[in-house]
Amino acid sequence: MCGIIGILGNHEVSPQLVEALKRLEYRGYDSAGVATVDADGKLSRRRAVGKLVNLSDRLVHEPLAGHAGIGHTRWATHGAATEANAHPHKRGPVAVVHNGIIENFRELRDEVIALGMTPESETDTETVALLTAWHMSQGLGPVQAARETLARLHGAFALAFLFEGEGNLMIAARKGSPLAVGTGDGEMFIGSDAVALAPFTDRITYLEDGDHAVITRAGAEIFDAEGLPANREIQQIDVGATRIDKGGFRHFMAKEIAEQPVVLGDALNHYIKGDRIVLPDAIDFRDVDRLTLVGCGTAFYAGYVARYWFETLAGIPCDLDVASEFRYREPPLSPKSWAMFVSQSGETADTLAALHYARDKVAKTVGVVNVGTSAIARDADIALPTLAGIEVGVASSKAFTCQLAVLAVLALKAAHDRGRLDDAGLAAHLADLRAIPGLLNQALAVSDGCRKLAGWLSEAQDVLYLGRGSFYPVALEGALKLKELSYIHAEGYASGELKHGPIALIDRNVPVVVVAPRDALFEKTVSNMQEVMARHGQVLLISDVEGIEAGGDGVHASLAMPQGGGSFQPILYAVPMQYLAYHTAVAKGTDVDQPRNLAKSVTVE
Ligand code: F6R
Repeated sequence: MCGIIGILGNHEVSPQLVEALKRLEYRGYDSAGVATVDADGKLSRRRAVGKLVNLSDRLVHEPLAGHAGIGHTRWATHGAATEANAHPHKRGPVAVVHNGIIENFRELRDEVIALGMTPESETDTETVALLTAWHMSQGLGPVQAARETLARLHGAFALAFLFEGEGNLMIAARKGSPLAVGTGDGEMFIGSDAVALAPFTDRITYLEDGDHAVITRAGAEIFDAEGLPANREIQQIDVGATRIDKGGFRHFMAKEIAEQPVVLGDALNHYIKGDRIVLPDAIDFRDVDRLTLVGCGTAFYAGYVARYWFETLAGIPCDLDVASEFRYREPPLSPKSWAMFVSQSGETADTLAALHYARDKVAKTVGVVNVGTSAIARDADIALPTLAGIEVGVASSKAFTCQLAVLAVLALKAAHDRGRLDDAGLAAHLADLRAIPGLLNQALAVSDGCRKLAGWLSEAQDVLYLGRGSFYPVALEGALKLKELSYIHAEGYASGELKHGPIALIDRNVPVVVVAPRDALFEKTVSNMQEVMARHGQVLLISDVEGIEAGGDGVHASLAMPQGGGSFQPILYAVPMQYLAYHTAVAKGTDVDQPRNLAKSVTVE
């Protein structure tokens, strides 16, 4: 997590650094800082705890001159969110910003202490600055000193170094964590992603694992993990797609929820033409004996919903795991199987490592990713964009439903390839799927009902979410959304599992959100709901009109959803999950777009 930026420019650089950090704030917002080298070669920094706005305020009162600078927005790993722990870390003539974790920092810290240096922070990053400063004190130039330091680092990092007296030098390095180098006209940039650099350049080079770059205004010399000069392509990135605004909504999340009918429609139009699915030729499921679906958090729940589709529609046995477990479980994988990795950012460290684990063991790896330039998109055999557009709200909304849309298309392709659906069957299911954007539009109307229930939910200490079949992962997603946005403890359970333990939690203070359209499993869920109400649990039933008529007696409240969408209805039911969490968070006054302790791109384990 953490966002880093570096600029060798031709103007005062601190406003540009702050502008870029604004675009990186989704990666963490515990503190922010910048360092610059001014015309006299003086290296100075400003740092502030909390959101970026605190740093901007500070820069108004204590401006920082210089045409060369680095900046950082932090998601704390080592050490609390204090000014002393904020980046850039500056020791002697060196300032460093870092994204990742230096795993051997304790050993390095002991070494520099033994050399007579005193750390001033609790961070792993400061040891990088200390070690480099020590090498320079021994007579090495900045480039060599940085190289000596880099050779000692274990773990994952994207790093940028700036040096006193060196207004035309920046060193960048990556291992594990992403890093982009931007080429301007007589200016150079580095950033955690291309979006941060979009205001300055659309010419981007992605460093590969183990690379480091020696950057001056004339360009970047890139070296690989062996220290040999490396050629890395400069790509033209579509900066038009990187406009970021709230479009009149109060929060990015509200805008992103409301965008779903449009972006999901665009995603479906990309993959479906008439009665035909359009996917790369290599997507042919005929010989696939098993599927493994991997992701984290909301992306994992998208995979969870999709498992029901792949199994019931296409008859492919599916394994499902969270990436952080999968990567260390050493699961045996069939050479005829495919592994799919679902990720909005495409940079989630665990999901990326899971992909790397699987790639030489399975027949094909498929990345279902929103950020097309991301590591997962680059490293998977086939990358399928989810086309949700930039998602700024840290809690995922439109990225989730677009993941579901792409996974639904894949499941239908699999069902057709394997003869489980003939052309007519496929056309009927495609019609259901194509109906989803319109139904989503109708589903947005539950916002009002959710707002009215927000006061009730915001009083609760615990909330349970229940669902069956493909609505069980929707319940899990609902509970995750409520937790992360409103800080209320919430759990999702399979409806039938409640009586095996969790029912002990039920009393009149525990709201129970039941996600149950009137489908084949509806009656069973209604029975579970009755068991809750018999124990004075307060039920919110989310169903269609028929379901509410048939099962709504005695519930505390109900929300009516549009009917239709066939097997793909779980996509619709994501909307009340999002709005319940959103309005409850607004009622509680929490930070909707940047909930505490979270970051959007989780590039550490
Ligand atoms: C929750 C949320 C997270 C992410 C998870 C994976 O609202 O956004 O749970 O889904 O961190 O992130 P990506 O999809 O970027 O791999």
